[in-house]
Amino acid sequence: MKTLKVTPLNSSFNTNISDIASDKSISHRSAMFSLFSDQPSHIKNFLMAEDTLNTLNIVKSFGVEVEQAGKADFTLTPPRKIKEPDDILDCGNSGTGMRLFCGLLSAFEGSFILTGDKYLRNRPMARVTQPLKAIGAKIDGRDFGNKAPLHIRGSVLKAFKYESPIDSAQVKSALILAALKADGVSYYKEEKLSRDHTERMLSGMGATIKTNDDGYIEIHPLTSTLKPLDITIPADPSSGFFFAVAASIIPNAKITIKNVTLNPTRIEAYKILQKMGANVEFVEHTNIYEPIGDIVVSHNTLKGVDVSENIAWLIDELPALSIAMSQASGISSVKNAKELRVKESDRITSVISNLQKCGITCHEFEDGYSITGGELNQATINSHGDHRIAMSFAIAGLKCGMEINDTECIMTSFPNFEELLNSLR
Ligand code: S3P
Repeated sequence: MKTLKVTPLNSSFNTNISDIASDKSISHRSAMFSLFSDQPSHIKNFLMAEDTLNTLNIVKSFGVEVEQAGKADFTLTPPRKIKEPDDILDCGNSGTGMRLFCGLLSAFEGSFILTGDKYLRNRPMARVTQPLKAIGAKIDGRDFGNKAPLHIRGSVLKAFKYESPIDSAQVKSALILAALKADGVSYYKEEKLSRDHTERMLSGMGATIKTNDDGYIEIHPLTSTLKPLDITIPADPSSGFFFAVAASIIPNAKITIKNVTLNPTRIEAYKILQKMGANVEFVEHTNIYEPIGDIVVSHNTLKGVDVSENIAWLIDELPALSIAMSQASGISSVKNAKELRVKESDRITSVISNLQKCGITCHEFEDGYSITGGELNQATINSHGDHRIAMSFAIAGLKCGMEINDTECIMTSFPNFEELLNSLR
């Protein structure tokens, strides 16, 4: 088991970071969506982390030719017909990988077995397998198809009209991918828009996907192959957010996160940090499938905040935000966030139990928590195998020192995290 020891930072920093990990959501989708074209897709700055490399390997097992040009630049040439893989498909720790592949493979000819690590095998998959089975997908697995390993036999899918009980980009994307191969026009609705990379990228490739006035996303089945992707993947705002929190809790600190996606569904946590008092600036440069630019964050005194809306837009950043909350004056709260319980770990329990070890007064609710700002003390943290818990408490360690156990998980999304953390010294 790997342990990360962080010592307190004795000075401040004013740094530009241009090598924050590439966006995980967009990297997964780039590899998968290359299958919808008959031309090579060019993908630059792919996330070279465990989760997305697992997705790339799976795509390779379908017969996609993967040519690596630079350190993280790939040309993906799809086969004329998807090959039935001769082994099980390992999604590792990635819920995004597994859930999106469920939708994608439900309509591809062949037999596919999806599995993952011990954490992923315990996460709920019924949220995608149930609606997929209702339109004719042949999926089975432990707990009646709720837990991996999952077996999928591609079949003909019926067009659907589905209103999702949860705001989840993974569920939405799985259903959109299935709809591309369904026997008619499909409609999907969620209460609050979740991250929309799937819609943006597939539309950019030429698919007919639009949101109607009644809130339903209308998805037309493909009548031909799509244009290939030509994309430079921006930095991941969720990974950049650890450093935004660092800048907001260290006096006189300033950080510029370069070339990050400014997609509105991804930067809500920065806006909460702004509401808490930190100085936050968004500078858009370009728009390739998504708005892309820099985010500048500098320290200011933080005050407590109540967060109960737009949860889907900050679900990945709440653990790091909780570190900022612990350094804000007064009481902060998070509500309507029960989805946190089914992430890479139960993030409500992981955040609260670890903050309590650091001497912070905080309370757990079924759908969130409250945190009273106070002094952070050095502690030994259990990451629960969750990359975002490990990195959040590493950032807290810049204040008071920290020992974090079980940090191999950082490799799933942010392999150069430790290097960048050390560069602040
Ligand atoms: C993701 C969607 C989110 C997020 C995950 C990545 C995606 O999950 O937590 O890290 O790429 O679609 P949900 O959509 O299930 O909330």
